[in-house]
Amino acid sequence: EIQDVEVPVLVVGAGPSGATLALLLGRYGIPVVAISRHRGTANTPRAHIFNQRAMEVLRDAGVEHLVKPIASTKDEIAHVAWLHTLAGEEYGRVYAWGNKPDRIGEYLTASPCEMSDLPQSVLEPILVKEARQLGADIRFSTEFLSHKSRSDGRVVTRVRDRVTSEEYNIISQYLVGADGARSAVLASLDIPIDGKQLDDAFNVYIRADLSRYFDIRPASMVWILNPDAPDWSSHGSIRMVRPWNEFIVSMHNAKGNLNFEPKDEDILTRLRQLIGDDSIEIELLGHFRWTINDQVARTWQKDNVLCIGDAVHRHPPINGLGSNTCISDAFNIAWKLAFVLKGWADPSILESLTAERKPVGDGVVRRANDGMLVHRRLWAFMGSTEAERTVVSQALRSATPEGARIRTKLRSIMEGTDDEFNSLGIQMNQTYLNSPLTVIETGDKPPDLQGLNVMKKQIIATFPGFHLPHVWLVKDGQSERISTLDLAGHGDFVAFTGIGGQGWIDAANKITSEGKITVKAYGIGRGLDYLDAYWDWEKVRGVEEDGVVLVRPDHFVCWRCSQSCPNTSEKLREVMRRILGQS
Ligand code: FDA
Repeated sequence: EIQDVEVPVLVVGAGPSGATLALLLGRYGIPVVAISRHRGTANTPRAHIFNQRAMEVLRDAGVEHLVKPIASTKDEIAHVAWLHTLAGEEYGRVYAWGNKPDRIGEYLTASPCEMSDLPQSVLEPILVKEARQLGADIRFSTEFLSHKSRSDGRVVTRVRDRVTSEEYNIISQYLVGADGARSAVLASLDIPIDGKQLDDAFNVYIRADLSRYFDIRPASMVWILNPDAPDWSSHGSIRMVRPWNEFIVSMHNAKGNLNFEPKDEDILTRLRQLIGDDSIEIELLGHFRWTINDQVARTWQKDNVLCIGDAVHRHPPINGLGSNTCISDAFNIAWKLAFVLKGWADPSILESLTAERKPVGDGVVRRANDGMLVHRRLWAFMGSTEAERTVVSQALRSATPEGARIRTKLRSIMEGTDDEFNSLGIQMNQTYLNSPLTVIETGDKPPDLQGLNVMKKQIIATFPGFHLPHVWLVKDGQSERISTLDLAGHGDFVAFTGIGGQGWIDAANKITSEGKITVKAYGIGRGLDYLDAYWDWEKVRGVEEDGVVLVRPDHFVCWRCSQSCPNTSEKLREVMRRILGQS
């Protein structure tokens, strides 16, 4: 008989959101149980693109060194191309994921981490293993059934062991729903979901050596626009899982019939057609469906229950934002839960989840769906029947005004994917401007917020609510560089100041010396802790040399003050109280 369990945090889900949260809570020494209804981690590759923000979280969590060596590199995902068959005619290609020559510097400036690519089936076991090593109790084959709140505020969650069919209770102070797009936790809260369900994707998982076609044009994926099989839709994609012998091929029924059950031989015939080289041996590893949505939950928290990840934001894979956003969601709530459970912050700070992360979720869902429209335009333009394609193909070669018009039009539609494949802004411009935990000094001016809507550009600012800018610093006399992001995070607040800012350092040290909350403090400047050797901090710090920038454990600036003052200690203490919901 399985005993009831008592634990501070129960996480439902051990996907990118749940496993990252379990890992981060483990780092704080917070006991956590995470349950997953499945037998193990993701058995299909699913989301892949690993953006810099998400990798920064894993770097903070101490697992970047495990993930980076096995992820496909930025160079391996350098393009996206559109072709008639993989081996055949190319309609065009774009640089992708930080590889566009005129944008490379922006990606390098943005983060100490690089864009990379790693399927969930490889990522999740790493997260789960590390979380377990830190003491997280992760129980697979365990299903969430229901939950209720007890009069003492505890949450009693009923779960079922799917192997033995036994039911038992897990009693926790907090319940986190990280249980994906069909979230039972969210449903049990009766929180409305805005938006709608979209199409079903039909994905085929294959092993095939396609290196001769990807070596010459490394790509995370290629689109195959091929109307040669009337039963199949004219567009499909070949998505690299591991370079260059494992792929996911997305292929659809021509009539949009969601219940079609193609036989293996039909799938293989179509695969050969998409690849266009019969000498390639194809091993079918499986196929699976997946529902693509355009949905955001209206609130992400109710009483002691918080929801993150696909439970609250669901969208197409365009821009590759799915699991990345999940990982950042987990980073957002990990420190808050830890601080509340340690008694260092008021539980009300947990209510900031919706104010901080829902605007990010809204933006991500909007962008991914807008990005879908560009692809649809391209598919329609190229024609969905052989007859339509023949007209376009001939026009693309023809020395006529119509030919020129078609070529220009095709280029312009393809370039419309730039907001998808070179979208540093949507990845990096997550801001918490309307958060109750963001403290703005009277008279402090935000940067031009118009720019937040520009998908491509990152806004680098220390205005409260913005992410701490990454700047390389050095220890005077040592050549090794360290990022401001490495000085921040790791469970602590950090205050950055400069020459003349000793008062802030003393104020931070005083709080730390009390033995509870650590506010690390660093002086950046000649003769101080770190040298701003490239002069980059000076350009972005947004305060005077003796001012201070205060950063939360999740790398977000929560307050800044332009100059030093006689009462730095009281000032910092008062701000910390506000941020921690104690005033
Ligand atoms: P995720 O769905 O990954 O995990 C949910 C977790 O909750 C699992 O551990 C599950 O077992 C658990 N759970 C669910 N209900 C439960 C219950 N009642 N009791 C207990 N546990 C429960 N994205 C993309 O960008 N490109 C892609 O190609 C794909 N392909 C794809 C295929 C398939 C089959 C799926 C399901 C999803 C995708 N996605 C995708 C979406 C992508 O996988 C998604 O954005 C992230 O996995 C979301 O991570 P979460 O951790 O939030 O949920």
